[in-house]
Amino acid sequence: MDYVHAKLRTNMAASTIEEYNAVKKTSEESETQHQGGPRVLADQPQSILELQRDLEDSNPVPVHSSHCPASNIPHPATNGDHDLPLRIKEGLRRHAKAVVVITCRHEGQRYAMAATAACELSLEPPSLLVCVNKSASIHSPLTKGADFCINILHSSHQTIARMCSGKVKGEARFEEGSWAEDEQYMPYLSDAQANFFCKLDGSFSYGTHEVFIGHIRSARTNGPVDPLVYVDGSYIPLGQA
Ligand SMILES: Cc1cc2nc3c(=O)[nH]c(=O)nc-3n(C[C@H](O)[C@H](O)[C@H](O)COP(=O)(O)O)c2cc1C
Repeated sequence: MDYVHAKLRTNMAASTIEEYNAVKKTSEESETQHQGGPRVLADQPQSILELQRDLEDSNPVPVHSSHCPASNIPHPATNGDHDLPLRIKEGLRRHAKAVVVITCRHEGQRYAMAATAACELSLEPPSLLVCVNKSASIHSPLTKGADFCINILHSSHQTIARMCSGKVKGEARFEEGSWAEDEQYMPYLSDAQANFFCKLDGSFSYGTHEVFIGHIRSARTNGPVDPLVYVDGSYIPLGQA
């Protein structure tokens, strides 16, 4: 059954439930023919990647998220796959990300949180998005409408990244680093690689997280390109990535 499950798990090409069921049926028929002995097929793919390529080649229909809204219909490819969270984590260890610190001010209180789930959205309108765990202290002010700043960290900002990811709490996160504030009292890191000052322009909840969309009202950059990168559980300068 492993081959069948692997094939189903990697069924990224099936864009509808019907296509999914068709692939499942074909796989099950194939499995039935090979019961009772070790599966040795000349054309059996050797890895998940090969399986995925195999399926993509045979059915190049892209998946659209509207087919499987995570809110109510379980994605067929994740059905019964208990190893999936582990494999996702392993996959994401290979996803090198620039580290940012999201900052905001709400009712006189400053907030800062290290994050990697920050992403460009569009230039028209100029926008970015960030994904914030609902358990993080910055989540509450953002849900109450606080504007925010995305500070792209420099390779020398490891200590700030650590402080803003739980090592210290609240205002103490601003004790290290060249923190400044703009005319609207928005805290920002003045020697960050870049600062994007955003007006909160939308949000939606997705499971444990909230996605916040920021309309960029101004941006500044600082020095040559040399960001702090997080990959495989470690901070590294881009030059070593
Ligand atoms: C490298 C790194 C990246 C992180 N990325 C995110 C992220 O994108 N979103 C998020 O909600 N938390 C992220 N976190 C975790 C938060 O930084 C951490 O939970 C938060 O600072 C806790 O804040 P609190 O003590 O104020 O609640 C990340 C942590 C690290 C070390």
